[in-house]
Amino acid sequence: MCRIVGYIGYNQATPILLNGLGRLEYRGYDSAGVAVFGDKGIVKARSEGKLVNLKKKTESTDVSGTVGIGHTRWATHGEPNETNCHPHSSMNGKFVVVHNGIIENYDVIKKQLLKNGVKFLSETDTEVVPQLLEYYYDGDVLEAIRKVTNELTGSYALGILCADCPDIIFAARKSSPLIVAKGENENFIASDISAILDYTKTYTTLNDGDIVELKKDSVKLFDKDLNEKEINFTVTDLDLSAVMKNGYEHFMLKEINEQPEKVKGLFDSYVSDGKVDIPELEKLSDCLENCEKIYAVACGSAYHTSIAGKYVIEQFSRIGVETDIASEFRYRSPILNEKTPVIIISQSGETADSIAALRMAKEHSAPVIGIVNVVGSTIYRESDCVLYTKAGPEIAVATTKGYATQLMMFYLIALYLAQKKGTLTAQEIAQYCAELETIPEKAERLVKNTAQIEKYSDRYKSSKNFFFIGRNTDYAAAMEASLKVKEISYISSDAYASGELKHGTIALIDKGTPVISFCANKRLFDKAWSNAEEVVARGAEVICVVSQKDEEKIKEGYGKIVLEDICDEFSTMLEVIAMQIFAYYIAKGNGCDIDKPKNLAKSVTVE
Ligand code: G6P
Repeated sequence: MCRIVGYIGYNQATPILLNGLGRLEYRGYDSAGVAVFGDKGIVKARSEGKLVNLKKKTESTDVSGTVGIGHTRWATHGEPNETNCHPHSSMNGKFVVVHNGIIENYDVIKKQLLKNGVKFLSETDTEVVPQLLEYYYDGDVLEAIRKVTNELTGSYALGILCADCPDIIFAARKSSPLIVAKGENENFIASDISAILDYTKTYTTLNDGDIVELKKDSVKLFDKDLNEKEINFTVTDLDLSAVMKNGYEHFMLKEINEQPEKVKGLFDSYVSDGKVDIPELEKLSDCLENCEKIYAVACGSAYHTSIAGKYVIEQFSRIGVETDIASEFRYRSPILNEKTPVIIISQSGETADSIAALRMAKEHSAPVIGIVNVVGSTIYRESDCVLYTKAGPEIAVATTKGYATQLMMFYLIALYLAQKKGTLTAQEIAQYCAELETIPEKAERLVKNTAQIEKYSDRYKSSKNFFFIGRNTDYAAAMEASLKVKEISYISSDAYASGELKHGTIALIDKGTPVISFCANKRLFDKAWSNAEEVVARGAEVICVVSQKDEEKIKEGYGKIVLEDICDEFSTMLEVIAMQIFAYYIAKGNGCDIDKPKNLAKSVTVE
């Protein structure tokens, strides 16, 4: 997705912009550009493809100057070529703009401007912004921004340069992330703090409608009507090491290895003396205790955690859970009211469809619980209660520690609800807490001893199609495992509920088709085993993901990945970690760009 960085200070802007864009590179993009205010006015350098191309461009273009804005673009309107690349300029060069988001009414504005003789160069929605700014500008930039932002519909984070103001960067935000950060005699804008951790940790997150005037030694914040607002800066506790590989070959591997510590952190925050205490949920405790149904809504892997969460919440607390993909939820007519809590799960807190689902829930007075990993993100700010997953910045596009911490949060919520409703005894809760407490050490041994998994990644890395099958909590694991393989190794794969396979999909099983059968849920082992035998009878090669307790039951000739025993309700956690490793080594064996898979973006801020 598009990302923005802006710098104003005493240092050369271009190296800082390139460095900042580099820190955001993992989020996925297909072209990049900068615009810098120098002696000859605003000069742009833009290029297709990766940042190294832009860097070369900046070496052959005079982009010297201490004020500048930069952008990485993930194409939505128009091909990823240089003409469509940001920054975009107005016809007479008065305004230069970088943008993240989508201007939904760009077509209407463009037609109007064309009628007025304005000439457009690109196919982008963004170009209407500098053009409209120039159209309204009469010497007062802030007033022009006010008029333009009043007219735009859709989402935007904007960085703006005006040729008449060589010592100012302007910015505005609605529904796309943007922060303002303060250094010593230098200031920044950025899509997120990780872009500028090399320079400062002091920042503030802009709210919808905010407009900013940034000079090297001052920051002014206005609301959408240009009333000046107070700014409250905070200092992030992230340090640079959180966004560096620290010796790992890939961020994904680093993040896989961080999982034991991160899930332990969450456990320690909410469990003591065999009881679960989630103070953040207290203000909704009446609603949660008395509701009959909870919605859990998300996209991608976050949606898969909700499926695993559903099994456990329903079993422990006897509250029904309806899971929904956010992009579907927002266009159906779910029965929402003040008695139907909605859990929105999002690592980034900025996924456009999840935000839309959240807002829809709130419009219907449904209380919203956000499970989020980014403090200050839109979902973090707009939820009624926030459960912060504390995984730290996740850089690899394919989520790992984001998933594991969301899942841990679901386990904790399930136990919390059971405790509140009395659907489990205190002794049972304490036993489940004791089981949960073992996850970090078991996960630690799993991520440190990957040989049994790597063997299968190597054997099957050239396969054309994988099947992942399981029942109940094992099915939740199958769905996430299948996504992991697709995302990073580009191998087609399907996840099926084991019992459903024979209703059609089994027709696709041929000699040598690899089928990963999840059987770590011991209660359902025998059922899972019969389904594994069914596919073997049709020529499949099965790898069973099994707990130590059932290991002996796996027949000779079947592959197996053995996990340490854990209660059935929590087995998804170890299964998924094993499959992250499986997918990682397949992708590595195939030479894929593991941290930045093609066509994907870390945080999908467009619909
Ligand atoms: C993208 C990422 C996925 C992620 C999904 C939801 O597609 O590539 O890994 O699961 O977005 O993201 P969120 O930030 O809302 O959890």
